[in-house]
Amino acid sequence: MNLYEAIFVRKSVRNYTNEALSAQMLEDILVQFDEIKGLFGGIETELAIFDNREGQYRMLSMLGIKAPYYLVLYSEEKDKALMNAGYLLEQLSLYLCTRGLGSCFVGNPFLKKKYVHRENKRVMAVLAFGKAKGPCTRKPAEAKRLTLAEMCVYKETPRQWMKQLLDAARMAPSSMNSQPWRFVVFDNRIHIFSKKHASDRLGRWDELNFGIMFSHMMVMAEELWLDVDLIRLDELSQKNFPNNQYVLSAILRP
Ligand SMILES: Cc1cc2nc3c(=O)[nH]c(=O)nc-3n(C[C@H](O)[C@H](O)[C@H](O)COP(=O)(O)O)c2cc1C
Repeated sequence: MNLYEAIFVRKSVRNYTNEALSAQMLEDILVQFDEIKGLFGGIETELAIFDNREGQYRMLSMLGIKAPYYLVLYSEEKDKALMNAGYLLEQLSLYLCTRGLGSCFVGNPFLKKKYVHRENKRVMAVLAFGKAKGPCTRKPAEAKRLTLAEMCVYKETPRQWMKQLLDAARMAPSSMNSQPWRFVVFDNRIHIFSKKHASDRLGRWDELNFGIMFSHMMVMAEELWLDVDLIRLDELSQKNFPNNQYVLSAILRP
């Protein structure tokens, strides 16, 4: 299984055995992280693996995910740092799936103060992981997701590769399975919107969620050998949409 295949079968795993992972496996995860390019560049990040087999980190999320290990992503606090964090960590979640391990994002990690910062960086996102009690994959049809028809407005008839990009995006996990993304699809570009909140900015969760969704899109683009740029278009940024907020556009480079 590769990352692309993992997009369609991964699921959030909430029950783990307390089994130790080999030093080689932990090393492989760190090497994999080093190979992933950030979403926009210019944001320094660092990955730490917390071994929680003795329960020393007690990072219980809102819904209480107790896991033997956590991936803790530290990042400089810059614009789009959360989006970048979601983008990086979801690729690791897919990687863990290819290695037969389960994982789940931890929404509200409670970390002791001494773990919150590392030099100029702070914790942006946490992924629980380890050997799953039970399977760490499922059939694509078992994922509870909106249909593409519910998420997309097509301005032109989409070609096969465009449908594949959207399908990968559709499978992305999101906090409380909120799936906040909406897509306006042209022949070679997708304008990406978020369902609107009271405030003008994306919430903390949504920034992470969108980073996660972009990682699925970019993994799929790589699989299809497509060059896709994620950029923010000025003309859309300045428009006011009643129910949606503009996030970015995915533009296919010829
Ligand atoms: C940013 C983020 C935070 C999440 N936080 C939690 C959490 O605190 N507890 C939990 O049980 N699941 C959490 N999840 C998992 C989602 O509930 C899950 O991804 C979603 O319901 C879709 O299910 P699936 O991942 O199995 O496809 C989180 C997911 C994301 C993306």
